[in-house]
Amino acid sequence: MEVIETVERMQESADEFRSAGYTVALVPTMGYLHEGHLELMRVGRKHSDKLIVSIFVNPAQFGPTDDFGEYPRDTEGDLKKAREVGADVVFMPSVEEMYPEVSQTKVHVEKVTQHLCGISRPGHFEGVTTVVCKLFNATKPHMAVFGQKDYQQLTVISRMVEDLNMDIEIIGVHTVREQDGLAMSSRNSYLNPEERKSALCLKKSLDLADRMFQDGEKTARVIREAVESLIKGHAFTEIDYVTLCDPATLEDIETLGENSLLALAVRVGNTRLIDNCLLRKT
Ligand code: PAF
Repeated sequence: MEVIETVERMQESADEFRSAGYTVALVPTMGYLHEGHLELMRVGRKHSDKLIVSIFVNPAQFGPTDDFGEYPRDTEGDLKKAREVGADVVFMPSVEEMYPEVSQTKVHVEKVTQHLCGISRPGHFEGVTTVVCKLFNATKPHMAVFGQKDYQQLTVISRMVEDLNMDIEIIGVHTVREQDGLAMSSRNSYLNPEERKSALCLKKSLDLADRMFQDGEKTARVIREAVESLIKGHAFTEIDYVTLCDPATLEDIETLGENSLLALAVRVGNTRLIDNCLLRKT
């Protein structure tokens, strides 16, 4: 496994893979790898000849009050895990390498960024699409793998790829959960034991909404209010949003149809957690 720190060497390595006729998958991450990331890597591994994992804590997607400084990091552990899963390259550029002082270009996706996390985290998705575009240009993948836990991110990136005619297949992978249902996230490491218990309200909310929907409830407001009251019954929680929306446009819906998205963002203590599920008849 090669560890690469510069864009120039990464592009050379990507060219070598491509000219040898290999297909290349990229799994972009911000490190502190957990089982959810490893699943993305296994999927990338399965679909391609060469697997590139990028590890870059991207300052451009953190707001001024976000946790960029405290974001957990574990380079040695990450390299060990990436090697075990069979990555061929880990691309680990510095902030200066990715954002030289002269740089002045950003990638902005319009409508799907204006809902859900886009409301409380202005500029976040512009940071994501800009860095993902740069990672694509550095690693030249045929496909890139993202988690469905970050449903809006996956939607925004798919939109960018289609709109900009990028010749890259975007693969979405199911959310990997802890045994008790908590969606895996690097940010779970911030939770103390009491908060960790309260954080289960996210998965419980998704399950409650699904039960209500399967029992015939179609009014978004009724489901939203039930979910909000479940969350409020858990200590240390503060709701950012509980939204029922169209899974393609992310626009709010009043009545649930065949396929609707329930998306949640909840602060538990100081930790902002997100989760989501598609509500459709089983
Ligand atoms: O999902 C993440 O970890 C990040 O948003 C990503 C896609 C690696 C871009 O920095």
